[in-house]
Amino acid sequence: MSTEPNQPEAGKKPQLPQPSEKTPRSAPDARMLRRRKFLNGLCIGVGTVSLGSIFWAVIGFMLAPLEDEPAGTWRSVGKVEDFKIGSTSIVKLEDASSVPWAGYAGKTAAWLRRDGESEFTCFSVNCTHLGCPVRWIETAELFMCPCHGGVYYKDGSVAAGPPPEPLPQYKVRVFNGSVQVLASPVPITHGAG
Ligand code: FES
Repeated sequence: MSTEPNQPEAGKKPQLPQPSEKTPRSAPDARMLRRRKFLNGLCIGVGTVSLGSIFWAVIGFMLAPLEDEPAGTWRSVGKVEDFKIGSTSIVKLEDASSVPWAGYAGKTAAWLRRDGESEFTCFSVNCTHLGCPVRWIETAELFMCPCHGGVYYKDGSVAAGPPPEPLPQYKVRVFNGSVQVLASPVPITHGAG
């Protein structure tokens, strides 16, 4: 009596077909794997470059203000005839480094003296000790600082007190009948001492 080829013999467990030990990858699988590896590497590379660019852009943006020296700007402070020869007057001007949102902080002042027909001298209003605004005392012909008693002569040199340096001067020019001062950032203190 013959048995069917796929029928288990009586008393024997049926044998399931076993997969071969090592199935070699087919050629399309290997190609897909290589492509996936390449795309992964490409994504990592592009991501790294992008992150690096963003990082340097942010650092550059943060450090830019430190590198940019604010250039001086000519500011008109009045007509020549507004100032009497020999007089020393306070003039208001906008700081050269002023930004649109600076508001009141962008304003500064200076002492302008008319020395002749078209000769002017302009002194910073800020004391070189700790930056307090100095006042011109006409009768004494001195600049006085109310904060710590700093005193400057008429030419801006130190007469007494703690100021370590003379009053800084601005460049002045006459342009189209106007007196213009080359505004620069407010000179802040050089340190107490
Ligand atoms: Fe002028 Fe000190 S700030 S003397």
